[in-house]
Amino acid sequence: MPNEWSPSSWREKNALHLPEYADPERLAAVEAQLSDSVPLVLASEIRSLKSRLAQVARGKAFLLQGGDCAESFAEFSPGGVRDLFRVFLQMSTVLAFSTGVPVVKVGRIAGQFAKPRSSPVETIDGVTLPSYLGDIINSIEFTEQARRPDPERILQAYHQANATMNLLRALGRSGFSDMRHVQQWNTRFIAGAPEGRRYQVIGRRIEEALAFMNACGVSPESVQALRETELFTSHDALLLNYEEAFTRLDYTSDEWYDCSAHMLWIGERTRGIDDAHVEFLKGVQNPVGLKCGPTLQEQDLLRLIDALNPQNEAGRLTLIVRMGADVLAERLPQLVRAVKREGHDVIWSVDPMHANTIKSSSGYKTRRFASVITEVERFFDVHHAEGTHAGGVHLEMTGADVTECTGGGQRICDDDLSNRYHTHCDPRLNATQALELAFLIAEKLKVEQPARPNLELAL
Ligand code: PEP
Ligand code: CO
Repeated sequence: MPNEWSPSSWREKNALHLPEYADPERLAAVEAQLSDSVPLVLASEIRSLKSRLAQVARGKAFLLQGGDCAESFAEFSPGGVRDLFRVFLQMSTVLAFSTGVPVVKVGRIAGQFAKPRSSPVETIDGVTLPSYLGDIINSIEFTEQARRPDPERILQAYHQANATMNLLRALGRSGFSDMRHVQQWNTRFIAGAPEGRRYQVIGRRIEEALAFMNACGVSPESVQALRETELFTSHDALLLNYEEAFTRLDYTSDEWYDCSAHMLWIGERTRGIDDAHVEFLKGVQNPVGLKCGPTLQEQDLLRLIDALNPQNEAGRLTLIVRMGADVLAERLPQLVRAVKREGHDVIWSVDPMHANTIKSSSGYKTRRFASVITEVERFFDVHHAEGTHAGGVHLEMTGADVTECTGGGQRICDDDLSNRYHTHCDPRLNATQALELAFLIAEKLKVEQPARPNLELAL
């Protein structure tokens, strides 16, 4: 680590997409309060995720990352957290059962509040105001007062993240995650869809396998992995004031960890090599994601990899490709070859959402499920051709039955979008679409990994 790094050294750098607060003293007081508050995750948990991600880098596990584009104060509910958790359980059941590959589950949750925006202002009916930057910064309401960055919101976001974390830990360890409940994870609205029925078939086979294992003396009572699961947390480390306040020196390793989440990523708009966000993430030991958009040049990527993972540690760096299917097919092979040639140990993951955002005829921001699928398929095809691992997916999804992305088995069309369009930022896959995608990924993964029964299923 460079000598001059400290949790606050980013402040000397060019920091893009950070809000300007009108009251710096109140902001400093909030930062001081957070620095003294209970961390959201522990350094030991972060290390545990990193070692699982090292397995992903080796092609021995698969990374499933997903959740809201932006968590919000208004949409927060225990039911919403539970439903997202349940979709993770269903998707990882499909993936692990079909391929025998363990699934590392990482939510965009318990801190995914700050948003970089393509424009700093928004104009409605001739009125121009600052853009909505996520609930941790300002409010989505279109008034001058609401759009003003307010430091008190940082505390509210922390309290919500804390409550979310508490629930995630409980869901992971309570009977909810027990494999014997595999059929109950199929909620009513999914069960009626074709994906729900496909899932039921897998569920029945798992129940049979559990009955057989029980007869052999192996049961969820005796095997922890069959009754518990762990959903790690992640978010875009955009609001560096918040991240700095959670950066703690771990006394067992004498290393810095950002204890606001297990994994953090750098967004497409903030990955300047000499800028504040890269500076901050260089110095913390968490697994880091780097969004790789359509304009990323090979040399810039290699420099970013050197800066973020100088020790070439497996599990430290995940490259999250979000180029759109056509650009991906054209540009990814060259990047994959360059990274392989330099011997960099990284995870390649695909975000098939952020280059596929369009405006529907009804005026809603949406994504076509077919475009999402095409980008995922091409990502797998490139890795297959290059002999590298397609290590993971990064999705915007929810456990609810929303109508935000068009297409999929439910055939959601432009006119349906207004029915249940709840997102505070980008459109998410609903639970049925997410499950449908999991079946598709399982098919693609099977080409790489011949199915092998895995007793633990890594759920
Ligand atoms: C996001 O993940 O919500 C996001 C804004 O992505 P990107 O930085 O890739 O545009
Ligand atoms: Co988004």
